[in-house]
Amino acid sequence: EKAGYDHFMLKEIYEQPRALRDTLISRLEDDRVVLNEVDLTAEQLRSFRKIFIVACGTAWHAGLVGKTLIERWVRLPVEVDIASEFRYRAPLVDEHTLVVVISQSGETADTLAALREAKRNGARIVAITNVVGSSVAREAHDVIYTWAGPEIAVASTKAYTTQLEGMALLGLYLAQTRGTLATEKIREVIAALRRLPAQAQEVLDESEHIKDLAQSFVEIEDAFFIGRGLDWNVAMEGALKLKEISYIHAEAYAAGELKHGTLALITDKTPVIALATQIDVYEKTLSNIIEVRARDARVIGITFKGNKDLDKLVDRVIYLPETIAELAPILTVIPMQLLAYYVSVARGCDVDKPRNLAKSVTVE
Ligand code: F6R
Repeated sequence: EKAGYDHFMLKEIYEQPRALRDTLISRLEDDRVVLNEVDLTAEQLRSFRKIFIVACGTAWHAGLVGKTLIERWVRLPVEVDIASEFRYRAPLVDEHTLVVVISQSGETADTLAALREAKRNGARIVAITNVVGSSVAREAHDVIYTWAGPEIAVASTKAYTTQLEGMALLGLYLAQTRGTLATEKIREVIAALRRLPAQAQEVLDESEHIKDLAQSFVEIEDAFFIGRGLDWNVAMEGALKLKEISYIHAEAYAAGELKHGTLALITDKTPVIALATQIDVYEKTLSNIIEVRARDARVIGITFKGNKDLDKLVDRVIYLPETIAELAPILTVIPMQLLAYYVSVARGCDVDKPRNLAKSVTVE
C-alpha cells in the first residue's frame, strides 16, 4: 500500500502533482473559477465585511497564506486564528462574517468546536477539507474539497499544498463576484495554477540534492527558517515539518524581526533556511541573510530560477520553477518537506508515526 515507497510520507510527498491536478479539475475556466459546491448567491458573497480563517497546525499555516491572498485579491480584512484560541476568545463574528474552516481530517476537536461557535453567532461557514462526509464537511454550510486522497502519515504534506490551492480558488471566486480583480489578473492566476502540477513534479525530480543536503542536518540541534511575507508563512510550515518528524528544534522567523532578539541565537551551529521568492521584499530578505551570515550561520537559500545575487550570499541555493508570488508557497514547501523527511530517516526516527502525535486530534 506504500506503492514501493519506504514510508507513507514520501509516497504522499510524491503524490502532490496528482493531488494538485485533481483539486483543480473542473474548477477552472480560462478567466473564471467555478465552485459549484459553494451555494452562495452573488448578493451573499457581496455582503461579507470580514473573513476569519480558523484551523490548527499545518492547516493554520495554510490559512496564514490564505489571508494574504484574500486581502490582496478581495480587499476584505481577514483574521487567521488557531482554533483552540478562537473558540475561547469571543471573536467578533456576525452574519456579515465569512468563516473559513480548514481541516484535512475534518475531525479535529478544536476546529469543529470553533466552527460551531461561529455558526452559533450567525456566520456563514465554508470548509476546506480532505475527507468527504467528515464532521466539518457535514456541519459547514459549504465545502470546498481538497482532492489529495487519503493522507496516512502523521506529518501533513499533500493536504497542505492542496489547501493552498483551495484558498487560491476561494480567493479568486470572491474576487470575481465582488469585482475586485481585473479579468487579466484572474487569467494570469488561473494560468499559473494550471502550471503548478508539472512544476511540483520538476521540484520532486531534484530530490536527490535535498537528500544530500539532509545528511548535514543529522547532527544539529537547532535550525532557523526565515523569510518575509508569504515566505515567512511557509517557513513556519517548514519548521513544523522538521520539528515533528526529526525532533530537531526549529523556529520560523519573519526575517526582519531577527534583529529584535533572535540574532543572539544564530551561530555557526544553527543552519538557516532562507526563503526568498517574494520579489517585492527580495532585497530586504537578502540584507537579513547578510545579518545571519555575519554570525557565521550556514545558509541554504530557496528562490526562483533566475533570481540573482542570492547564490553569492549563501552556501547553497535550491532553485524553484517560477510562478506568481501568491502561489510560491505551494512549490517552496516541497524541498522543506523532503528535507524533513530525509533528516528524519537519517536520524532513525519513526517518520510516519512521530512520538506523541496522532493523525486526527479528536480530543481538546
Ligand atoms: C502537521 C499536522 C498537524 C495537523 C493538525 C490539524 O503535520 O499534521 O499540525 O495539520 O493537527 O489537523 P486537521 O487538518 O486534520 O484538522
